[in-house]
Amino acid sequence: MHKRKILAMSPRKPIYEGKAKQLFEGPEPGTLIQHFKDDATAFNNQKKGTIAGKGVLNNRISEYLMLRLHEIGVPTHFIRTLNMREQLIKSVQIVPLEVIVRNVAAGSFAKRFGVKEGKDLGQPLIEYCYKNDALGDPFVSEEHIFAFHWATPQEVDEIRMYALRINDFLSGLFMGVGIRLVDFKLEFGRLAEGDRDQVILADEISPDNCRLWDVKTGKKLDKDRFRQDLGQVEDAYQEVARRLGVLPPEESHVIAVDARPPRQKK
Ligand code: TMP
Repeated sequence: MHKRKILAMSPRKPIYEGKAKQLFEGPEPGTLIQHFKDDATAFNNQKKGTIAGKGVLNNRISEYLMLRLHEIGVPTHFIRTLNMREQLIKSVQIVPLEVIVRNVAAGSFAKRFGVKEGKDLGQPLIEYCYKNDALGDPFVSEEHIFAFHWATPQEVDEIRMYALRINDFLSGLFMGVGIRLVDFKLEFGRLAEGDRDQVILADEISPDNCRLWDVKTGKKLDKDRFRQDLGQVEDAYQEVARRLGVLPPEESHVIAVDARPPRQKK
């Protein structure tokens, strides 16, 4: 009988632990493994919990959206899915900005400006926050970004251009499955390309960092269900994955160790 060699797994080197994800050293130089956890936080860590199966679903949803964005020419850090909770990504130097794109008033925007949640903003609005938990991710203008050298004017131009293209494309994609893309948060990273750094899309795109409302009923299908204790949190993430055609086969996301994502039917 053919004897299988059992390879001792060497412990992976942890690089960074975030609130919803963990990064490990990748198998080749310039790569990292991005691991999606079920942990959820809100209001700058004040509220903590877990959403069962979230990591598996966000891994698939983010893979799917990053691949579609790559197809329209948006460079991303995504390389390939490794297993149910992990993907291989390009190692980048993160630009310390949270780039928020809003189409509809909601969340902190509705609160700050006293606008009714659900009001269409007419045109997409971009906001920047300085990515710093200790300071509570304060809002910043381009002036702050340049003064603190967080990004160059050229990088901010590229980030704006990508953010608007991503918004255009994802708004249409989600509308096609009956979902209104209300707002979302992006992060970008620098990748050395020849003698120049290129700005590429990093982090994830999932119901953790998007507001997604059912077009017909207005039902929230995103992390606001957790933030606002609305219940049916797991169901909402599953519903988004199901509509995008990336829901893992029944129950498999709970027990499976490894699986390639199902082939798209379209
Ligand atoms: P906000 O209305 O709370 O400012 O959130 C705007 C969008 O950004 C919303 O889709 C949620 C997302 N977001 C994150 O992904 N991470 C964060 O830390 C915050 C504050 C918002």
